[in-house]
Amino acid sequence: MIYLTYSFKLKEQELKILESYFQDTSIFPLDNYFQDFPTLFLFLENIPLGFLTYQEILDEVHILNFGIKKTFQGKGFGKLFLKFFLYNVNKKNIFLEVFKDNRKAINLYKKFNFKIIGVRKNFYKGKDAYIMMREKR
Ligand SMILES: CC(C)(COP(=O)(O)OP(=O)(O)OC[C@H]1O[C@@H](n2cnc3c(N)ncnc32)[C@H](O)[C@@H]1OP(=O)(O)O)[C@@H](O)C(=O)NCCC(=O)NCCS
Repeated sequence: MIYLTYSFKLKEQELKILESYFQDTSIFPLDNYFQDFPTLFLFLENIPLGFLTYQEILDEVHILNFGIKKTFQGKGFGKLFLKFFLYNVNKKNIFLEVFKDNRKAINLYKKFNFKIIGVRKNFYKGKDAYIMMREKR
């Protein structure tokens, strides 16, 4: 069975899942920084497949971090996860940053009508990122 869990603020145990399962998936260090933001986990039985951390301010949502465990990538889980998430935040404008060379993620976001609206120079570790936005429905 595939299911999602939601945490408004990560508990210690969830932070451990993030750190131990997804560090190889995330471009950012998965440390306490993300603890204070809402996070969804996608599970297959008891195996964590993916995570999505976001921030919500008024009518805007910012996807801060999103990943599917390497061994489960390319099997449609990212699409499924994002579809579910977006369905629940349809009424908000959604923003994210994605490295300019992350073709996989950019393709995925474009599928869900995210548009490139700018470039963030030196976004992280000297690499530039696109700012992408999906308008509220
Ligand atoms: C980006 C990521 C979340 C996608 O998840 P995934 O489960 O691998 O993706 P899916 O199998 O659901 O594929 C979804 C879409 O992504 C794109 N995609 C997937 N694999 C791709 C590849 N090898 N090359 C180009 N595009 C690809 C396609 O548009 C695909 O849709 P399609 O199958 O209808 O053509 C995942 O690869 C990941 O965790 N990457 C590392 C972390 C990361 O980059 N996160 C995003 C930070 S902004």
